[in-house]
Amino acid sequence: MDNKLDVFRRELVDVQDIPLFWCIAEEWSQVESFEARPDDLLISTYPKSGTTWMSEILDLIYNNGDAEKCKRDAIYKRVPFMELIIPGISNGVELLQNMQSPRLVKTHLPVQLLPSSFWKNDCKMIYVARNAKDVAVSYYYFYKMAKMHPEPGTWEEFLDKFMTGKVCFGSWYDHVKGWWEKRKDHRILYIFYEDMKEDPKGELQKLLKFLEKELPEETVDKILYHSSFNVMKQNPNANYTTLATCEMDHSVSPFMRKGILGDWKNQFTVDQYERFEEDYEKKMKGSTLQFRSEI
Ligand code: A3P
Repeated sequence: MDNKLDVFRRELVDVQDIPLFWCIAEEWSQVESFEARPDDLLISTYPKSGTTWMSEILDLIYNNGDAEKCKRDAIYKRVPFMELIIPGISNGVELLQNMQSPRLVKTHLPVQLLPSSFWKNDCKMIYVARNAKDVAVSYYYFYKMAKMHPEPGTWEEFLDKFMTGKVCFGSWYDHVKGWWEKRKDHRILYIFYEDMKEDPKGELQKLLKFLEKELPEETVDKILYHSSFNVMKQNPNANYTTLATCEMDHSVSPFMRKGILGDWKNQFTVDQYERFEEDYEKKMKGSTLQFRSEI
């Protein structure tokens, strides 16, 4: 039997009360001691919030809109997933150590687990947040197709796990709030998936300003084209189809699934919706953070 099979569908393991893939927990000291560089740009998100989309946009910006250069490798090599260490398959820390600056670094860690070197080096960070109901739905289909996760169970069961934070990278509610608070005293640009959908050009301008970079209009339009959902869906270096089927099975659900706002309406029952909203109010009470789950 293929050894690789042993790594998949295993239970999550807590690191400081946050459930993570068992192998990240096992190699936690490597992650914790990760050495950030002052010119690293961190892309931080809760899973399924538009990480890949933001990664592709930033790589295009770094390469002045040259789409061919951005096809040099798969997105998970161009923008390594720092804490993802899977024995025999991937090691984000090592990938990054061997990468030339300036690096784009992806993380899903809640703010309190981010390696301290990022704060010490005052790295710029971009946080992308997406509304909870769409994230829950997207995460459910991702759990099904990406075999590092435990089996999701039924949608009803998964939704319960999501609401109680018993999913990989923990509570969505704490994640989005934690990074929202941190933006007050660090160089963090907090962006919403919904705003990127509504006004991609406006959000791209915000990114450029934050990066102190100017690009001609023509380049901006090129970046918007190459990072659009339909173009990325067809791009093997952006759509994760270069991974082995034992890792991600796109026949179960494609990585580039729908890319829309409000898909939760096709998934939640009225009862689930009401329960979710009531619980949401409690968990988000007192926060100034506002999401849109429809436009
Ligand atoms: P859906 O499952 O709702 O379709 P992440 O990269 O953080 O894992 O997020 C994946 C989600 O972002 C998926 O959502 C995916 O379809 C969506 N996505 C990826 N690229 C996108 C793009 N260019 N435009 C809009 N959504 C995109």
